[in-house]
Amino acid sequence: MSVIKVALLGFGTVGEGVYRTIQSHQKELKAVLGKNVEVVAVLIKNKEKKRDINSGVLITTDFEDIIELPHLDVVIEAITEKEPSFTYLKRALIKGYHIVTANKEMFSSHGRELIELAAKQKVSVGFEATVAGGVPIIQTLQQLLKVNNVYEIQGILNGTSNFILTEMREKKQSFFEALKLAQQNGYAEANPSNDINGFDAYFKLMVLSEIAFGEQPEQKYVKINGITDITSEQIEMAEKLGLHFKHIASIERKEDRLYASVIPTLVSKSHPFYHVEGVENAVHVKTDLVGGITLQGPGAGMFPTASAMIEDLVQVFQRHSTLGNSLKNKSIIKKEAKDQDIS
Ligand code: HSE
Repeated sequence: MSVIKVALLGFGTVGEGVYRTIQSHQKELKAVLGKNVEVVAVLIKNKEKKRDINSGVLITTDFEDIIELPHLDVVIEAITEKEPSFTYLKRALIKGYHIVTANKEMFSSHGRELIELAAKQKVSVGFEATVAGGVPIIQTLQQLLKVNNVYEIQGILNGTSNFILTEMREKKQSFFEALKLAQQNGYAEANPSNDINGFDAYFKLMVLSEIAFGEQPEQKYVKINGITDITSEQIEMAEKLGLHFKHIASIERKEDRLYASVIPTLVSKSHPFYHVEGVENAVHVKTDLVGGITLQGPGAGMFPTASAMIEDLVQVFQRHSTLGNSLKNKSIIKKEAKDQDIS
């Protein structure tokens, strides 16, 4: 195999970012993978829309055209909602292709199943882009914190919400003006309701929960509030008191139970998220050995998210057996702990 053949599902902001990055970073990809990377097919929704895609690339609205291709190595998915993404990725794994996804909604529900199927098929799943855009929080949790026990995670996990709150405070924009700008900048989802009602951050928190704790709390026990009720007057009043509104997703393990919430919170200058502004995301992880670590960086947008997917593309070829073990090991550890409690 002298070329790594990629099929790209979706050509929105993220899909286009991945495509353009593969074109612009051939030299870097070849240096690390020893092969060229070629996008051979792109799944699109609307045939009429003009796109800057090389001739020779199969452009189709039908996934069957892609899954029936005689040879692929990896399927990169950048579409939204659980279905048909889950079905497409399952079929790609069954065919023996690696997969890379940015789809947090789908992955928070089906990630475990995809990882288990990938392990069976001896291929790998990359999902760094499901949480916090370009911030490598998944790799940090999986690769760097193998022995540490994580007991708490807090994060600003939705770039659109943080951007809106910052614009409203710093530039006195209205909520809707700020949302429009977030959409123009390619931060918001095509349908931004999950961005502003807290569910996008909730899906991301659940992906982190699986990695850190090997399980998720039931949704009915998680308080999920978005930013839609925060007014310009409240933001102004808070600022006068030295406080900023931040939309914070948090999860904590206490006595073998998980407590999670996704809510707007007022923070003072001493809080690690006080200065996290605009489209930035931040994740603060507390563990028994290292203490607290904060990762911060661009949480949405074309190239930060493409960055996470391209790094994943490399990772799936470099370590395709270890990704599958990470979640499994966590749940085994948890089961052993439960068994010990019972005896
Ligand atoms: N709409 C998402 C956000 C994109 O604003 O954070 C990145 O997942």
